[in-house]
Amino acid sequence: MPQLSNRVMTFTDSVIRRMTRISEEYDAINLSQGYPDWDPPREITDALAQVAGEGPHQYSITFGAKNLREALCKIESERFGRTVDPEQEIVITCGSTEAMMTCMMTVCNPGDKVVIFSPFYENYGADTILSGADPIFVPLTPPEYSFDRAQLAEACSQPGVKALILCNPSNPCGKVFKRDELEFIASLAKKYDFYVVTDEVYEYIVFDDHEHICMASLPGMFERTLTCNSLSKTYSITGWRLGYVIGNAEAIEAARKVHDFLTVGAAAPIQEAACRAIEAFGPDYYAGVKQEYQEKRDLFVKGLDAIGIPHSNPEGTYFIMVDITKYLELPQFAGMSDLEFCEWMIRNIGVAAVPGSSFFREPINHLIRLHFARSESVLNDALSRLSKMADLLK
Ligand SMILES: Cc1ncc(COP(=O)(O)O)c(C=O)c1O
Repeated sequence: MPQLSNRVMTFTDSVIRRMTRISEEYDAINLSQGYPDWDPPREITDALAQVAGEGPHQYSITFGAKNLREALCKIESERFGRTVDPEQEIVITCGSTEAMMTCMMTVCNPGDKVVIFSPFYENYGADTILSGADPIFVPLTPPEYSFDRAQLAEACSQPGVKALILCNPSNPCGKVFKRDELEFIASLAKKYDFYVVTDEVYEYIVFDDHEHICMASLPGMFERTLTCNSLSKTYSITGWRLGYVIGNAEAIEAARKVHDFLTVGAAAPIQEAACRAIEAFGPDYYAGVKQEYQEKRDLFVKGLDAIGIPHSNPEGTYFIMVDITKYLELPQFAGMSDLEFCEWMIRNIGVAAVPGSSFFREPINHLIRLHFARSESVLNDALSRLSKMADLLK
């Protein structure tokens, strides 16, 4: 048999999907793969039903239906503090997943370097490899998930750095980058002349007084930022596969070519239904999303505290990192990896988590990730199952 490409041999399939598979086998509560367990807003499902009868059912314009581009640019113009041109500065993609891959293929030549914070959303490793680039990892150090400025500057100054990937708010660690941190990254992008490719799918899921700031809104940064975003999380439609990239006209023209040959385009009826609903939503909708997730985070954090399970303090996203050091010190878990511990948890506690090592480049074995995009009753059920873990330490 002819050999498959070297490319596909350099990364494994998703650990999260593996956890989901085992979770289903044991009928556990799946807090590994993050997606909401409730229905999308009625406006969205009603629009989908209407569109099923009315169409469109044929290809849309490859870079996205005009009305959806206009609706999204209207929203993002406010966040970016400048008018985003729906004719030239946006391409609609099949989720942020395709948006990121499209950006990487648009920006990188084989051999270019890409700076990635670690821990990172696992797709970035594969995106980098598939676009032919080499990653340089810079740690975000727990528990604050802060970065060392000198270390970041050193990474960015290496010859061949073409882009930095910025997930903000950040999966898996829940960090929301502060203005001064973004300004520092922006100063490096200008100094060493690279793009910032951002992933902002959790832009509305921020807690307390944390504020999500778009990198592209910083002075001089629209030109060198490719902002990837998605409708998946904001409208609870992860299965619809709608996302977009916003950037300068020249980069977007190139990204539209990549997108065209990768997918032709996002599904036309789905774009139309999403557009009808988005046009009907005002600021209350987005405030509601924030409020809903804030309540879930508070409930989950309070529950973990009551049980005595140490955890990170997420500023945004719907993920939380749990510290399992104390458990790994127990004789029955001696020598266990975080992956093995997660498998044990599924079988014995009935809750599925993701081993932290799948997000970190550093040899981290004491953290696991849970998500809280679940209804209150499921979260309470998960907490009551997790309380069995505390008994082990008594
Ligand atoms: C940081 C981040 N980016 C992108 C995605 C995927 O987004 P989409 O559904 O738009 O492809 C996820 C999903 O979990 C994510 O956590």
